[in-house]
Amino acid sequence: MGEPVSDAIAILGGTGDQGLGLALRFVKAGRPVVVGSRVEERALAAAEQIREAVPGAEVSGFENSVATPRAQIVILSVPFEHMASTVKSIKEALSPGQIVVSMGVPLATAVGDGATRTVGIWQGSCAEMVAARVPKGVDVVSAFQNVSAHRLQHLADPVECDVLISGAKKARQTVMGLCDLVPGLRAVDGGPLDNARIVEAITALLIGLNIRYKVPEGLGFRITGLPD
Ligand SMILES: NC(=O)c1ccc[n+]([C@@H]2O[C@H](COP(=O)([O-])OP(=O)(O)OC[C@H]3O[C@@H](n4cnc5c(N)ncnc54)[C@H](OP(=O)(O)O)[C@@H]3O)[C@@H](O)[C@H]2O)c1
Repeated sequence: MGEPVSDAIAILGGTGDQGLGLALRFVKAGRPVVVGSRVEERALAAAEQIREAVPGAEVSGFENSVATPRAQIVILSVPFEHMASTVKSIKEALSPGQIVVSMGVPLATAVGDGATRTVGIWQGSCAEMVAARVPKGVDVVSAFQNVSAHRLQHLADPVECDVLISGAKKARQTVMGLCDLVPGLRAVDGGPLDNARIVEAITALLIGLNIRYKVPEGLGFRITGLPD
């Protein structure tokens, strides 16, 4: 399959709300983005939409398994209930040294219940479930679960939110660097991957807060008192 090239970021499911939001922010900061989709035409259409929003954007679109080897960092931006099948579909395209970012939240909507609660995952979290399924040598990092898609897509404003990032140290530090590309985001060292279960659950809490406080754009959160 060859070595991943350049500083591109692949976003599988970049045709959806959250992936599109991240893609827009990354290209605006000058990073190349590879949009992945199950259907190449949808990836190409999303890439075109991104170029229209951010003239000069370095963005391409491919079917997921073709997009996967084109970047060192591969962000999975598909609903939780499709994570396992998506990982299966790209497994052969992954190589040691790549980093897979899990953004999934096991919302109870996956089983027909509400979005303000989660379901239990055997491995402990969506991120750990993904980690159990990638080939040896591929690191899985958990990130961006608490960031609002709406705010990401609204390029005129910063995205005021801390991003707790968990996983093996070197890989998580690489992903923490992505937060510098998005005005307002701040990376917070979330330690080992098993902390992802806490971070994922916070999203369900935030969704409930969005409803109670009537903030359809989505709330963010900050951790205070961190040293500079
Ligand atoms: N939306 C938010 O505000 C938000 C916030 C924080 C975290 N997240 C997380 O980010 C991820 C993406 O969320 P989203 O709101 O962007 O989701 P979404 O718009 O519902 O879906 C994203 C993409 O997933 C792909 N997909 C749909 N059904 C699929 C299937 N059966 N198998 C494989 N892929 C499928 C589709 O891409 P193709 O049809 O092009 O393949 C779709 O565009 C989720 O894990 C979510 O928990 C979202």
